[in-house]
Parts: sequence; C-alpha cells; structure tokens
Amino acid sequence: MEIVKAVASEKNVPSNIQAVCHRMMLDDASKLRRVDCSGICLKSLDESHVDLVTRTWKFARNREVVGMIRNMARNFPSCCVLDAEGKPVSWILTYVSGAIGVLYTLPEHRGKGYAKVLISSMAKKFFGHGYPVFCFIEEENLVSYQLFKSMGFSEDPSYRATWSEFNF
Ligand SMILES: CC(C)(COP(=O)(O)OP(=O)(O)OC[C@H]1O[C@@H](n2cnc3c(N)ncnc32)[C@H](O)[C@@H]1OP(=O)(O)O)[C@@H](O)C(=O)NCCC(=O)NCCS
Repeated sequence: MEIVKAVASEKNVPSNIQAVCHRMMLDDASKLRRVDCSGICLKSLDESHVDLVTRTWKFARNREVVGMIRNMARNFPSCCVLDAEGKPVSWILTYVSGAIGVLYTLPEHRGKGYAKVLISSMAKKFFGHGYPVFCFIEEENLVSYQLFKSMGFSEDPSYRATWSEFNF
C-alpha cells in the first residue's frame, strides 16, 4: 500500500484507503456453529431493497457503489430477516468475488441472533453448491470479527485486503 500511495501521490492522483480487512474462511461445513432459526422469517433481497441497504452501509458514498449493491441484490445470493410486516431488519449479500458481506442489522433489532442466522443460512447454501465460504472483516470491527469467529470462521493471518479509492 505504501508503494501504491507513493505512485498515486507522484502522479497527483488523489487516493484514500477506505478499509484494511482480515480474510476469514469457513473451510469445513462441520465447523459451522449450529444456530436456532425457529420463528425467524428469511427471504432473499431484491432490487426494491437497494435503497435500504445503501442507506445503512457506510461505504455506499457514490453512484458506483450503489450500482455494485444493485448488481449484488439482483444477481447474487442474499438473505434477510423480515419483521412481522415483511420489512427486512437484518441482511447479508454476496460480492462478485463470492465473499459474503454487507452484513447489517438495524440497531433496534441487534442482539436477537439475526446475524448468526443469516451467516449460517448463507454458509449452508454455499457449502451445498460446493462454493468457498469466506468474508472480509475490517481490522477494527471487533464485534464482527468475534461474530464470524464464533460461527466457526478462521482468519488467514498472512492475508490482508484493502479497499482504496483513486481519483474520487
Ligand atoms: C455486527 C452486526 C451485524 C451483528 O448483528 P446482530 O443481529 O446484532 O448479531 P447477533 O444478534 O446475531 O449477535 C451476534 C454476536 O454479535 C455480538 N453482539 C451482538 N450485539 C452486540 C452488542 N450490542 N454489543 C456487543 N456485541 C454484540 C455478540 O458477540 C453476538 O454473539 P453471542 O450472542 O453469541 O454473544 C451488527 O452489530 C451490525 O449491523 N453492525 C454494524 C455493521 C457491521 O459492522 N457489519 C459487519 C460488517 S462485516
């Protein structure tokens, strides 16, 4: 990243590192923590939910990112928990890379086990199709790191992913 930043600066290209992330994998279906899904209504997201997802996602600051979320909601696996009125209160999507992410629970619904149910549901779906199960967690997001660890994921300590923006 130092080299990339130095080259950008030499060329007068504005650059910004948005996030430095751990990569966490669930390498074996038997390691997936069992969670109780009873009484929880799950559904896939669709395009009508793009606004809700982008409003609550801290990286959705420009049109490109909104377009990325729209593509994810339209074309890739996703899952959400619905409330009694059928509105999503917690959700997870899949990036083009195949990583699961953009996990979010509305603040008033946190601590009810929804994120655990969503991770479990997506992991089972991916394992069922023979796809790898992995995600990227920002280094400072300890709640999320602990959450994925408790679900059976482990970190590759030699790996970091960064999200950077140039010419923004
Ligand atoms: C991280 C997040 C998705 C968890 O959602 P949630 O539905 O509340 O999660 P759950 O109820 O399934 O709880 C999962 C774990 O999170 C932790 N947790 C949940 N609520 C917490 C709170 N208020 N304070 C600290 N830890 C908490 C607990 O470790 C819990 O596991 P445990 O019950 O086995 O102890 C939610 O806090 C959130 O949306 N945060 C902001 C966005 C974010 O960081 N997303 C993750 C990006 S990878």
